[in-house]
Amino acid sequence: MTRAGALVLLVLAAGCRQGPRTPEAAGKGVYAAYDCKRCHRIGAEGGDAGPDLTFAGFRKTPEFMAVWLKDPAAWQPNTLMPNFSLNDEARVQLAAYLGTLKGEAHRGPEGAPWDQPAFKADPLKRGAEIYARAGCVTCHGKGGKGGYTNLNAIGGKVPAVERAKEGFSRAELIKRIADGVRHPTKADPAGPEPMLWMPAWKEALKPDEIEAVADYVLSLAPPVQESW
Ligand code: HEC
Ligand code: HEC
Repeated sequence: MTRAGALVLLVLAAGCRQGPRTPEAAGKGVYAAYDCKRCHRIGAEGGDAGPDLTFAGFRKTPEFMAVWLKDPAAWQPNTLMPNFSLNDEARVQLAAYLGTLKGEAHRGPEGAPWDQPAFKADPLKRGAEIYARAGCVTCHGKGGKGGYTNLNAIGGKVPAVERAKEGFSRAELIKRIADGVRHPTKADPAGPEPMLWMPAWKEALKPDEIEAVADYVLSLAPPVQESW
């Protein structure tokens, strides 16, 4: 073997000892370094000033995360999420890591957060917890009131769902949540696809969980006007 060949082998061996560092693994390091858990939960760990990220990679694409992380307030005015001024590499690594979060951390032996004893007696409270922790709230807003930007969707926003009762029967609503809507209607047909779409929740939630969250959404409807 030539000396150059030996040198190449040495360098390769040194690289292997460290192990290959995937963007996802590097992104996990960035998540820890910036202490994102101060505001976000994954599984049982973290604060609740921001949304639970356990299903983040199920509901949002790494492409969206990368745009979001670049400047949260540019996408969503008045957001509480700080701009960390991440460099492009760290941002893309972080987005890749978030893309791996598809709910597993809520499927451990201790059960999902909404299956804890506190929710047993109250199905609507359980539905509200699923709405929050699976992350419906990150697109449809607190109480289903909407307000979240979705470029080139009708109205430029993800629709509010607080009045879903007026447009959907219970069975239709369950089906819509289960099947999702992969291609929301574009405001400008020649414009880009909206970055946020309605995920097919049957791929992440159990049938009884979809029913519970549907009943919660139905409960948001304002009371019917009885007088005139
Ligand atoms: C001071 C609290 C705070 C910190 C720290 C914070 N976030 Fe957020 N984050 C929020 C809030 C609040 C939202 C929800 C957007 C809104 O309603 O303004 C959010 C939204 C998000 C979203 C999109 C919503 C979703 O879950 O689908 C992602 C992804 C996210 N944050 C990732 C991160 C990452 C990664 C870090 C660390 C680099 C971080 N956040 C640090 C408060 C925070
Ligand atoms: C990543 C963003 C996102 C998340 C998360 C999300 N949705 Fe949606 N949802 C959408 C979009 C976008 C539409 C509109 C689709 C269209 O154009 O028909 C929609 C539509 C709906 C509708 C129909 C509203 C109407 O008037 O047509 C309901 C009901 C609904 N979502 C409920 C939920 C529930 C419940 C969850 C959580 C289990 C959830 N969504 C999570 C983006 C999201």
